Amino acid sequence: MFPVDYLDRKPLGGTGESISAIGIGTYDIRDESKAINALKYAVSIGLDLIDTAEMYGSGRSEELISEVIRSVGRSSIFIVTKLYPHRFRSQEESIKALKASLRRLGTSYVDLVLIHWPDTFTPIERQIRSLEALVDNGLSRYMGVSNFTARQLKVALSSTAKHDIVVNQVKYSVVDRDVERDLLPLCIERKVTLMAYTPIERGRVANVRWLNEIALKYGKTPIQIALNFLISRPYVVAIPKTEKKERVEEFKGALGWRLSNQDIKFLEEFSRS
Ligand SMILES: NC(=O)c1ccc[n+]([C@@H]2O[C@H](COP(=O)([O-])OP(=O)(O)OC[C@H]3O[C@@H](n4cnc5c(N)ncnc54)[C@H](OP(=O)(O)O)[C@@H]3O)[C@@H](O)[C@H]2O)c1
Repeated sequence: MFPVDYLDRKPLGGTGESISAIGIGTYDIRDESKAINALKYAVSIGLDLIDTAEMYGSGRSEELISEVIRSVGRSSIFIVTKLYPHRFRSQEESIKALKASLRRLGTSYVDLVLIHWPDTFTPIERQIRSLEALVDNGLSRYMGVSNFTARQLKVALSSTAKHDIVVNQVKYSVVDRDVERDLLPLCIERKVTLMAYTPIERGRVANVRWLNEIALKYGKTPIQIALNFLISRPYVVAIPKTEKKERVEEFKGALGWRLSNQDIKFLEEFSRS
């Protein structure tokens, strides 16, 4: 259905900039020092996108990332953070919240800031004004959304006045392909990068029989097959989470090659059933 995209750095919306096809998530970190080492290692081998949110560990995830930044240098990492929906009720509130995130991160800017999910109490247009204020004030280089449906994304896209929406971060995995119905085609058409969260279903894809079959054929692991399936789609990047160095290494093994079109079809058939 979709053409295969062979680049392992993928376009960031229509910005002309590219980002790693696989970044690292930071939700629910348990062993902090292990996690910091795993994140430093990820950046050192090119998985240089780190996803966080003010919500994760009530700000603790952002604080831990500040240690990674101090060690590897700010310009070596692409940092994504997400603010609570209610922050976007006014420009003052969104600016205040992102400044608090920046203090925790120990940096003067993030690369990308997202509305964590749409606020049902605020018109999308007003949320987008508050989002644009963050870029206007130099607190974030780019802006985007998360958990927006195709309908909500269309409204958001038509509400922008000064800056583009470059990312929609949503749930997407080889066994949960709902976004392919209308959201992914819209993202491809409008040049919005789809950032896939929970892309390995919290590790459960490792036990899926038909992924294991394909994995054997390629000399890869089922996790690598599941990630490669996603990044084969144009405009899709994935942000699996781990706090283990060896798993970062495993994610890296999903880059630099592609499943054949025939095997992608095979996986699509199985995931449908
Ligand atoms: N925008 C949103 O609303 C939203 C929602 C959910 C998630 N996210 C973002 O997306 C990131 C990824 O999603 P996620 O954390 O929900 O799920 P995920 O990446 O699908 O799975 C992460 C879990 O799988 C385990 N894991 C990693 N590699 C594994 C392997 N090779 N074998 C078995 N288990 C493995 C990890 O444990 P270890 O750490 O012990 O390796 C962790 O518990 C989050 O961390 C967060 O940054 C965003």
